[in-house]
Amino acid sequence: MTRLLVTGGAGFIGANFVHQVLESTDDVVTVLDSLSYAGNRASLPDDGPRFRFVRGSVADPALLDDLVPRHDAVVHFAAESHNDNSLLDPSPFIDTNIVGTFELLQAVRHHDVRYHHISTDEVYGDLELDDPARFTETTPYNPSSPYSASKAGSDLLVRAWVRSFGVRATISNCSNNYGPYQHVEKFIPRQITNLIDGVRPRLYGAGLNVRDWIHVRDHNLAVLRILEAGTIGETYLIGADGELNNVTVIRLILELMGNDPDDFDHVTDRPGHDMRYAIDASRLRAELGWAPVYPDFRAGLAATIAWYRDNEAWWRPMKDQTEAKYARTGQ
Ligand code: NAD
Ligand code: DAU
Repeated sequence: MTRLLVTGGAGFIGANFVHQVLESTDDVVTVLDSLSYAGNRASLPDDGPRFRFVRGSVADPALLDDLVPRHDAVVHFAAESHNDNSLLDPSPFIDTNIVGTFELLQAVRHHDVRYHHISTDEVYGDLELDDPARFTETTPYNPSSPYSASKAGSDLLVRAWVRSFGVRATISNCSNNYGPYQHVEKFIPRQITNLIDGVRPRLYGAGLNVRDWIHVRDHNLAVLRILEAGTIGETYLIGADGELNNVTVIRLILELMGNDPDDFDHVTDRPGHDMRYAIDASRLRAELGWAPVYPDFRAGLAATIAWYRDNEAWWRPMKDQTEAKYARTGQ
């Protein structure tokens, strides 16, 4: 039995992680989450013998000093995670992603607690559509947006705390996740919930940008495997060979929801929009024996659509506010 402190557990990936841990292990979980606009207590179970929710910030050193030593490992999901928001106001991205990670690193250092840092493939910048290369653990950092720059900064702090202070940390950089409990600001849930509302999906620019989709449960299974058998100080890239361009995804959502696949609108492009992400997960596969359990994107997307249809009470309170923000930027 391990006592896990999961930061950002009321967000998309963290909430799925908590459910998976409670289902598949006998670990005890504490979630530390500030319940920002992106956090939702309703994504998590009620408090009980194996689960406790604490509302607070990862940038609060006194709270960390109390919580961290009561756990065997910290899994750090908490972040400001949306590129579009970072273009409107980068400030909370610096506070949570950089200062928050710094405070957590200080706490795990002082209390000698194992730490796993959740990061993104976006730290590597983007690839051309025809580039045969994919990102690997040795690709140089080259982030494009305030979001990805803040994640890159946090990764570099982790590496420095491992080398300088002997912190027992691992890092994973994953590609685009999809699945249940994702905020409706993100591409796939935004289009699904628009269609439920009878609104046409919105494609940024020409829609040729490629993302490397992975089911959120496969991401979390990789994180669990790294916690179990990863080498301290190492970085692992997580991806499931799921490259698709945005127009293909939007057409598939339309088809699966019984609409004409051409029934979408092109809207203002994202400034500095990364063209392509692609992950080479060979290290994770070869060294830790991980492989995706949910590799069928069409089936995963159909299940995700069903989840949003069945859980309107979960996403409805965030929908109008999210669309009002997009309306202001012509998106
Ligand atoms: P999310 O925005 O859905 O959830 C983030 C959570 O962090 C929310 O519950 C929020 O309330 C919480 N939070 C924000 N600031 C906080 C603070 N100061 N203290 C405590 N909690 C705070 O994000 P997500 O999509 O679940 O992403 C989780 C992590 O995975 C992030 O680190 C992100 O960079 C990374 N990641 C995401 C993807 C993806 O496709 N979504 C892919 C790769 C990596
Ligand atoms: O690659 C991992 C990253 O994936 C994570 O680090 C981020 O936290 C996560 O948000 C995601 O970033 P993206 O910017 O790729 O995801 P997003 O869902 O915002 O957009 C996916 C693609 O869809 C991107 O090319 C922009 C486009 N898009 C997005 C929205 C919201 C549209 O065409 N229309 C839209 O309405």
